[in-house]
Amino acid sequence: MTRLTVIASGKGGVGKTCLAIGLAQALAEGGARTALVDGDLGLANVDVQLGVTPARDLGHVLTGACTAEQALTPHPAGFALLPGRSGAAGLASLGAEGLDRMVALLRALPVEEVVLDLGAGLSLAQRRLAAAADLLLVVVTEEPTSLTDAYAVLKLHRTDGGGQAALVANMVQGPAQAARVHGALDQACRHFLGQGVKLLGHVRRDAKVPAAIRAQAPLLTRHPASPAARDLRILAAALRATPLGKAA
Ligand SMILES: Nc1ncnc2c1ncn2[C@@H]1O[C@H](COP(=O)(O)OP(=O)(O)O)[C@@H](O)[C@H]1O
Ligand SMILES: [Mg+2]
Repeated sequence: MTRLTVIASGKGGVGKTCLAIGLAQALAEGGARTALVDGDLGLANVDVQLGVTPARDLGHVLTGACTAEQALTPHPAGFALLPGRSGAAGLASLGAEGLDRMVALLRALPVEEVVLDLGAGLSLAQRRLAAAADLLLVVVTEEPTSLTDAYAVLKLHRTDGGGQAALVANMVQGPAQAARVHGALDQACRHFLGQGVKLLGHVRRDAKVPAAIRAQAPLLTRHPASPAARDLRILAAALRATPLGKAA
């Protein structure tokens, strides 16, 4: 069984791409066959953060130039990478059928865990991908704009009939701040949506994260003992411990 985990936030710059890369590496370290897919078609952030220029990307897969498996590029960090295509038209140009085909291709990859990094925004295409996920991970920081965007993502996810969703509090000082961020959103979800949201984990604010990006190297390779790297390993373990199922 392949689990499709979609990383979203609404707001940009909250750490989705860092988290997707770190989570994929931590899952791979933990022994799970893992694919990291850059769903930010048009900007292809993952390639830039990792400093790689793979020959094949999701664009080739979607036009039928190669299979999804052929476009999976093994990365030294342990996961396989399916890159986005920089400069290509965004996900929106795929249409509903194209998006559903993309989900089917990702689910058929020969891995246990697929981590799909979405771009910023709340487009129909992003909503369709989020709704197709086994688990939607909503990345949130303590900034009010991030909280309201995360709430909007969760609300639309419910409207769209999406499955499991959970929060990841990023750039927090520690567990207490993560609990406060979670508490605020959980309360809003309970009150207005009739159902709370759980916190899967948190990642501390850590200067090693931007340092790794500057070096175009994955955090867990570059700074394996950093606080953020430790938190990512705990997050990956929590994900692995989450039963795969559509129940919220
Ligand atoms: N845990 C963290 N600690 C410190 N800085 C972080 C952390 N997570 C992300 N960042 C910084 O936030 C910025 C945006 O991250 P990115 O992953 O590109 O966000 P998004 O994909 O949501 O737009 C990056 O410059 C990165 O260095
Ligand atoms: Mg990003």
